Amino acid sequence: MSGAGKTVCVTGASGYIASWLVKFLLQRGYTVKASVRDPNNPKKRDHLLKLDGAKERLHLFKAELLEDGSFDAAIDGCEGVFHTASPFYHAVTDPQKFFCIDGQALLSWFQAELIDPAVKGTLNVLGSCAKTSSVKRVVLTSSIAAVAYNGKPRTPEVVVDESWFSDPDFCKEAKMWYVVSKTLAEDAAWKFAKEKGFDMVTINPAMVIGPLLQPVLNTSAEAIANLLKGSQTYANASFGWVNVKDVAYAHIQAFEIPSATGRYCLVERVAHYSQVVEILRKLYPSSQLPDKCADDKPFVPIYQVSKEKAKSLGIDYIPIEQSIQETVESLKEKNFIGATSSNM
Ligand SMILES: NC(=O)c1ccc[n+]([C@@H]2O[C@H](COP(=O)([O-])OP(=O)(O)OC[C@H]3O[C@@H](n4cnc5c(N)ncnc54)[C@H](OP(=O)(O)O)[C@@H]3O)[C@@H](O)[C@H]2O)c1
Repeated sequence: MSGAGKTVCVTGASGYIASWLVKFLLQRGYTVKASVRDPNNPKKRDHLLKLDGAKERLHLFKAELLEDGSFDAAIDGCEGVFHTASPFYHAVTDPQKFFCIDGQALLSWFQAELIDPAVKGTLNVLGSCAKTSSVKRVVLTSSIAAVAYNGKPRTPEVVVDESWFSDPDFCKEAKMWYVVSKTLAEDAAWKFAKEKGFDMVTINPAMVIGPLLQPVLNTSAEAIANLLKGSQTYANASFGWVNVKDVAYAHIQAFEIPSATGRYCLVERVAHYSQVVEILRKLYPSSQLPDKCADDKPFVPIYQVSKEKAKSLGIDYIPIEQSIQETVESLKEKNFIGATSSNM
């Protein structure tokens, strides 16, 4: 019970990664002050309240990233702050709404919906941390998005590590707005932490999969769900993949290990979507899976991500095959994929 008697804050606690983080923190005996946007929404609250230890040691706070000082109450008196809250999606959520708007309007939308909450929101949370002397360390949930996208070639021989930084101009040019949001947010956070002289560690996971605790479908688990919904094609893309339980555990280790420092990339394996489909086919031979790539171009190559630093946090990765299986079983249990579409 390494957390007994200690109080920590988790921002965006309803989310996919944060829900596992809250679960593990409660298991370790921590008292958790959890920020959620809408504490009155059962879908954002009930799965947290049901966790072991929640009755005694979980406290919900309402907080919104773009409201100044919104996180003060949740962070006040905490030894550690895990800042996970940030919007995560790649596409416009309501394409109908954008049918008639021009590129500039779309850009403004991404600025307001993705980039501002990520960057200004992170500075807002860090501002609350700076106000209270109780905070000893901040663990920021960044992303491999802030590491690997800078125009340098990524091929099977290339090893990406924590010394890589994404280039926001390159990402803007490529219209990778989520990547831009995470890159600018991490950069702003490091500048702020340096200026204020506080201890911050970042966790930089790739695509996170594995079981869902929350009742709503999150973006990264949806990537697997989409392959099982009768789609004819898979994307021509290669991503790193990592299990949500390893990601949550890494956050806690990064807080508890005094020597933890800097950034930690978390990737069990980089795989092209065609390889993910192959793993699904082996696990669920009778399921309907896409059998061709969405374009005729050569497959986007895989690359490597160094595991050295993650090892120092004690991470012994769950293999991708198990992570995919756990995702599918969870998606089935929560009815995000039906027995008829997947024929499983
Ligand atoms: N999943 C991945 O593959 C992955 C990989 C690398 C990094 N990450 C990072 O991990 C973190 C958590 O992601 P996730 O996958 O767990 O996504 P998620 O399930 O969508 O969780 C995101 C959380 O952020 C909260 N949030 C979003 N906008 C907010 C706002 N304006 N004010 C307050 N809270 C807000 C959401 O609140 P509501 O529940 O109210 O919407 C939600 O709790 C993010 O920082 C993401 O960038 C994720």
